[in-house]
Amino acid sequence: MAKSMPDMAKVLYSEQAIDECLTRLGKEIGQEYKGKKVLVLSVLKGGFMFTADLIRKVDPYPTVMQLDFIKASSYGSGTETSGVVKIEGLDISTVKGKDVLIMEDIVDSGLTLSRICSLLRGEGGAASVKVCALLDKRARRKVEFEADWVGFDCPDEFVVGYGIDFSEHWRFLPFVGVPKPEAVERVRAEINKH
Ligand code: PRP
Repeated sequence: MAKSMPDMAKVLYSEQAIDECLTRLGKEIGQEYKGKKVLVLSVLKGGFMFTADLIRKVDPYPTVMQLDFIKASSYGSGTETSGVVKIEGLDISTVKGKDVLIMEDIVDSGLTLSRICSLLRGEGGAASVKVCALLDKRARRKVEFEADWVGFDCPDEFVVGYGIDFSEHWRFLPFVGVPKPEAVERVRAEINKH
């Protein structure tokens, strides 16, 4: 089991459960974009691991699959969204007329993805914009938002791993887990020291 396991109270989605989920999503996405050109847009930082694994499971392979990245952040070192979504790193002129598939680790308040989708559909002029998210925490929505594909309907628990961090901790765990309260407190204390 992974190196930071002592910090985890439980594993919510194991490596195997994630792998099976990605196989399902890969097939559904493959059917959707069969014979088409698709621009996959991975939302950094959290979406990098999900994107790297899912993109290899898209089956059948679209005629053309391009990859680009967009960086979005709104949480900083907190556990509640700041409400201000900072978006960087994408040349918006490159999405015009394209079928865009966004890959993201989690939908929480919905602010990040609704902001990115509006940008791509509006200013970006994308032909279509669809979203695949590994986790969907519907209980936490602040704005209406529905992803087109969801890996797991996630309970309203404090989750980390598989791309999701708490102040840059636990992002690289190969599973999604719930940290122990004392581990969260330890990290909070470290943050407060700086
Ligand atoms: C996380 C996550 C999503 C977003 C979801 O990113 O990766 O992008 O929050 O939350 P929302 O639905 O409430 O907007 P974060 O701001 O923590 O940045 P990071 O991915 O770089 O860690």
